[in-house]
Amino acid sequence: MGAAVKYERRGQIGVISVNNPPVNALSHAVRSGIVDALATAATDDSLAVVLCCEGRTFIAGADITEFGKPPQAPSLPDLLVALDSHPKLTVAAIHGTALGGGFEVALTCNYRIALTSAKVGLPEVKLGLLPGAGGTQRTPRLAGLPAAVDLITSGNPVSAERAMALKLIDQLADENLVERAIDYGNQLIEENAPQRQASALTFSLTVEDTDLIEKSRAQLVKRTRGERAPQRILDCLLAAAEGSFESGLKREREEFMACLADPQSAALRHMFFAERAAAKIDHLAKDIKPLDIRSVGIIGAGTMGGGIAMCFAQAGMAVTLVDMTDDAVNIGLEKIAKNYAISVKKGRLSTAQTDAIMANITTSSDFNDLGEVDMVIEAVFENLAVKKEVFATLDSICKPGAILASNTSYQSIDDIAAVTTRPESVLGMHFFSPANVMKLLEVVKGAQSSDLVIATAMAVGKKIGKVSVLSGMCYGFIGNRMLRHYGREAALCLMEGSTPAQIDSAMESWGMAMGPLAVSDLAGLDIGYKAREQLTAEQKGAPASYIVADRLVEAGRLGQKSGAGYYRYDPETRQRQEDPAVMTIVTEARRELGITPRHFEDEEIVNRLTLALANEGAKLLQEGIAQRASDIDVVYCYGYGFPRFRGGPMHTIEAMGLDKAVTLLNEFHDQLNPEHWQAAPLLTKLVANGGQLADSHRD
Ligand code: 3HC
Ligand code: NAI
Repeated sequence: MGAAVKYERRGQIGVISVNNPPVNALSHAVRSGIVDALATAATDDSLAVVLCCEGRTFIAGADITEFGKPPQAPSLPDLLVALDSHPKLTVAAIHGTALGGGFEVALTCNYRIALTSAKVGLPEVKLGLLPGAGGTQRTPRLAGLPAAVDLITSGNPVSAERAMALKLIDQLADENLVERAIDYGNQLIEENAPQRQASALTFSLTVEDTDLIEKSRAQLVKRTRGERAPQRILDCLLAAAEGSFESGLKREREEFMACLADPQSAALRHMFFAERAAAKIDHLAKDIKPLDIRSVGIIGAGTMGGGIAMCFAQAGMAVTLVDMTDDAVNIGLEKIAKNYAISVKKGRLSTAQTDAIMANITTSSDFNDLGEVDMVIEAVFENLAVKKEVFATLDSICKPGAILASNTSYQSIDDIAAVTTRPESVLGMHFFSPANVMKLLEVVKGAQSSDLVIATAMAVGKKIGKVSVLSGMCYGFIGNRMLRHYGREAALCLMEGSTPAQIDSAMESWGMAMGPLAVSDLAGLDIGYKAREQLTAEQKGAPASYIVADRLVEAGRLGQKSGAGYYRYDPETRQRQEDPAVMTIVTEARRELGITPRHFEDEEIVNRLTLALANEGAKLLQEGIAQRASDIDVVYCYGYGFPRFRGGPMHTIEAMGLDKAVTLLNEFHDQLNPEHWQAAPLLTKLVANGGQLADSHRD
């Protein structure tokens, strides 16, 4: 049977156990091992079969690395035919996470027993796929349509207890799973239990079910912003009700193959591996053991400090939140309490949970209270002089070995570290607003930040539920440095003839969570205005790229907070509305700079904005600021609302073809501002060599 699958007899039960670390994915060796074991069990004198797994989990799905490669028999459908038609009773014994194809294998068994700690689910939609091994046909037959829609279109796993309530699991066990599964098998034999097959159950739609499908279709169009797999899932669920099991299965296979060939799935699978790769740091000693961080000081109880405090308190760490005065820190704490009150009201957390979280936060206006903390994160005003003063104070107060991190968006970590006697302990930990919600954390390595400090920051990020990406030191780090180019092109498209509504809706239809000008309104136009005040004319760049933003601020239009910016905002609903006053400002600015407006196609807007991002990304990659192209994609999908189904800006140009991307960059260079459109040398080199971004590292 091979090393991946073992078969042994335990009395009248045949036990098939899978051992394919790390997650028992259904790779070829596992599929063929199970098929062989089933064949043995079919002919020996066992009366029932238990299918279980060794290691940390039941089968966590198909082997994603095999997608796109030539198929190798037996396929997963072959395996399921062997399982569904097996002459003996079959029992799946589930621990850890039974996901995707793994859960579909379990659903094909006659009975299922799970540890109470187990979770089950069909997460394929998160990979741009659908359950392709009978999941869309067996789940509604066992659990009904509403549960199937929820489980398969969300992709979120459910607890074993919930799965039992949904009739997807038959028995729970607290421990000794395999022994309990054998007992269960013996009990079923004794009871002369039938070989219950989900495939044999009849299933038809009620009027409510049909309504639910239509409602879900509309909701998913809105929520998934153009993802095709969720719609295909609904088609398969409909097919489950409209025909036989076999015809439904056939439809599912067709839709699964269509998903597999869809670039959206390629992008989402890219993101799956990108997230996991981001956690790995090249050149870091394998045996490095991150420091155990239990207590954290946060300086600045404003927008970011408050959100960061919530992240740590939720992870059970002791937080000391410090601001300049008791009043300031109390205002910050009140905002945190208000946020939690909303979570309680929405039923996301219980009062007991929020009380426990709040109990992890103590407040102070005295830096001396930070003497014993393991880590400090500074989130004071974005001003180098203020930050230097804070770090000099921290240096004199904090215990040796404490990590000193800055949440700065732009300042030099090296300049900040230079005021301390321990630059090796200083680094950037750049959170995104709102910090308690956004998943991204940029860990910024200063010239002297030690490997231990970097490894610890990455581990801390994981502990508080963030996706962490390492960035080298440069102005704006990975994300904000690229964003300047994206924002510039949005502003230039507006000046050259487009409108805020066209720009934002072009980007939103393409998949961005929010268009660039609407985002500027949300963040506050005054932030960029104040930042520009500190720059020289040369640093500010082309006047056409900021003149409208300046005029809006000067007219008191600061964005959502003042009720108007690039749009007017409904005071009740905060809905944005086009505002003719903005176009008057734009027209005036065009006249002043001698720009004659022209017609814009959405495609040009999308190409200019995404290529501006990717071209700068390629420069970051070449400079070694980003470790790998996929890290940049993680930054954009988790920090800037870039659609995961496009796979991030770097995957976008890789999927488009780097040669086509460079051709477009060169066209923009010739037709637009040539300074803005110098193709990154790395891209031209890759095109010349036929290389891929995925394999590119620093020169
Ligand atoms: N195929 C191949 N490799 C996989 C894999 C899979 N299904 N699932 C996880 N891995 C790999 C990861 O890439 C990672 O590799 P690395 O160590 O080299 O980076 C390693 O296994 C460990 O994974 P995690 O770091 O994610 O481990 P966690 O313990 O944090 O999480 C997990 C475990 C919950 C199982 C998580 O890995 C997961 O969600 N996996 C994907 C599950 C999934 O999507 N299954 C459906 C697949 S599609 C399918 O089944 C189609 C079918 O319907 C036909
Ligand atoms: P904020 O103005 O909301 O809060 C800053 C807080 O720091 C205020 O409560 C202030 O009283 C306090 N403070 C100032 N000087 C201090 C000192 N010497 N000692 C103790 N407390 C002091 O600012 P915000 O938006 O929270 O930004 C903080 C930092 O986070 C900045 O460096 C900013 O660039 C960065 N950042 C901001 C993001 C945002 O979207 N707001 C996103 C990511 C990073």
